[in-house]
Amino acid sequence: MIGLGCDHGGYALKEELKRHLEEAGIACMDFGCDSQESVDYPVYAEKVARAVASGECSEGILICGTGIGMCIAANKIPGVRAALCHDCFSAQATKEHNNANILTMGARVIGPGLALKIADTFLKTPFSQDERHIRRIAMIDGLEGKE
Ligand code: RB5
Repeated sequence: MIGLGCDHGGYALKEELKRHLEEAGIACMDFGCDSQESVDYPVYAEKVARAVASGECSEGILICGTGIGMCIAANKIPGVRAALCHDCFSAQATKEHNNANILTMGARVIGPGLALKIADTFLKTPFSQDERHIRRIAMIDGLEGKE
């Protein structure tokens, strides 16, 4: 189950992405928002991030104007590794190396064609399971709550 979320800046792209994923047979849970009316992106980042952290969703995709605010907010939730990607190389690498569980994108930065390819790449790429990457992710987890 893929959790989707957006703010007003990402609404149109989130709708297009939802159609694209559902056409491909990928089940999605849409956490809003539901229009282009101005909303606060941290609200939607938290909804998707908590769904991913709890296991309700295996992965999430968050879209705002730049993808930056969504990424910053989602990464505040323990267990979330959100990555801002605007190219397919980064989307593949962040799964293989960081085991990222949320992809964020900026609808004002890239067009829908590239965004859908990035999402496909992110979702189809598995974590490498390499010892060095497991070790480094454990080190990131160890930073939580550290002064
Ligand atoms: C909303 O105007 C904009 O700030 C938001 O979509 C996002 O880009 C924040 O990082």
